[in-house]
Amino acid sequence: MPYHLTTPIYYVNAEPHIGHAYTTIAADVLTRSHGSGTQFTTGTDENSLKNVEAAKKAGKPTQQYVDEMAAVWLKTWGELNIQPTTFVRTTATNHRLAVERFWVAVHANKDIYRGTYVGLYCSGCEAYVNETDLTDGCCPMHKTPPQQLKEENYFFRASRYKNQILAYIEANPDFISPPSRRNETISFIKNGFDDISISRKTQEWGIPIPAIDTNHGVPGEPEVVYVWFDALINYISAVGYGWDEKQFKEKWPADLHLVGKDIIKFHCALWPAMLLSAGLPLPKKIYAHGFFTVDGQKISKSLGNAIDPLKISQKYGVDTLRYYLLAKLSFGNDGDFSFAQLDEVYQADLANGLGNLASRVSNMVEKYLDGKVWARKEGYHVLTNQVETLTRELLFRDALETIWKEIYRANKRIEDDKPWQLAKEGKTEVLAALLSDLVSDILCVSRLIAPYMPTTSQKLLDGFSGPKISKMNPLFPRLEKEVASKKE
Ligand code: MSP
Repeated sequence: MPYHLTTPIYYVNAEPHIGHAYTTIAADVLTRSHGSGTQFTTGTDENSLKNVEAAKKAGKPTQQYVDEMAAVWLKTWGELNIQPTTFVRTTATNHRLAVERFWVAVHANKDIYRGTYVGLYCSGCEAYVNETDLTDGCCPMHKTPPQQLKEENYFFRASRYKNQILAYIEANPDFISPPSRRNETISFIKNGFDDISISRKTQEWGIPIPAIDTNHGVPGEPEVVYVWFDALINYISAVGYGWDEKQFKEKWPADLHLVGKDIIKFHCALWPAMLLSAGLPLPKKIYAHGFFTVDGQKISKSLGNAIDPLKISQKYGVDTLRYYLLAKLSFGNDGDFSFAQLDEVYQADLANGLGNLASRVSNMVEKYLDGKVWARKEGYHVLTNQVETLTRELLFRDALETIWKEIYRANKRIEDDKPWQLAKEGKTEVLAALLSDLVSDILCVSRLIAPYMPTTSQKLLDGFSGPKISKMNPLFPRLEKEVASKKE
């Protein structure tokens, strides 16, 4: 069965920032590592009130606004060389069909009932919150006070699945990773996980509640599906649930849901409860990565540090962004994105490390061997397997470190063996053997970095696999001083 992984679907109330790019690039690396046929789903979460408010601010009808923004997100992923198989938009018809079907299944299992919700709601989180979650009366994440809500709506009997989910987590230690997130989920399910309101009255934007329960609701009054209940269903609507049963049977369950640590309650508690209620298999694994700050500050629109990933890729190259995010931040943990570190990495690891290796070797092969090297060396299997295993275990930093050790080893060999001296002394055989080895090493590196740095990988392949090698242009050129010192 081909590998199947997902990212969260993102709200479209703003353009993507590097935090969103982080998850999506990681998913793309995994997809490329698992090879063709891999199912990689991402998309946009469009039925949120946040989007309605953003549309209002932009002075546009909501549908037009989300259409335009979804296009921006899709285009951004394209420019970052991220290639999802499926891009779900929750305003699309197939997704609505899936949500309706799911609602009917859960309803048939007697897990939907009418009740009155009295309590607090944070529109930033799009979530119901408890007094105890607040600091100084505000949501600790969004720094805004929640709304007081009292409305009659539909509830999902999530509590019915508490014990079953706990037993499942117990029996499947890898279901939620890393272990800290697993423990967090267990304590949440034990202490705070209850039935949840899954519809919103007085809201027109969203997927209308299917008309199966005629005893309730006031005709003409809108009532829509709660946005998280709707959004989670994207993982199955992406692969046919509700509109292509054959495809769905083939592709579900997913091997991996990749999420940030901010949304584990929804993915590790609510989503499993929903699937159990609908009689569907659970995903095999949910991995929650850490959050990073930018130069020590939380990423936020109001601080103005919500960096557009395209600004970085335009200045440093897409592969630099992809490399930096995965090589210097430890995926499961929190970290800091720092511009000083980005510059340093560009110079040290990329320009002086990989870039220098490629230009020196190509230059010497052209100069000393008339562009021709011996047959390629074999025997990189152990290294290849090691890097592939690390990547597939989401140990991206370790995988890249392993590759860079090879790069440094090759550069050191040039320093130690001094090919220019061998040329001077006329030791042609030794020189040809050395440069041929180095070309083989570079070709191996080009294969190893392919999931992480597809463009650079291709350039190396083109530069070193033809019958005649000539000096390559720098892979990571010197950054223009004036551009480098500009703020953006
Ligand atoms: N729409 C919901 C998800 C629904 S999934 C069924 C949502 N969207 S979001 O636009 O707010 O995206 C949240 C995700 O963006 C996080 O889970 C994480 O993957 C990513 N990140 C956002 N900020 C980030 C950082 N500062 N650091 C790392 N990842 C970040 O929540």
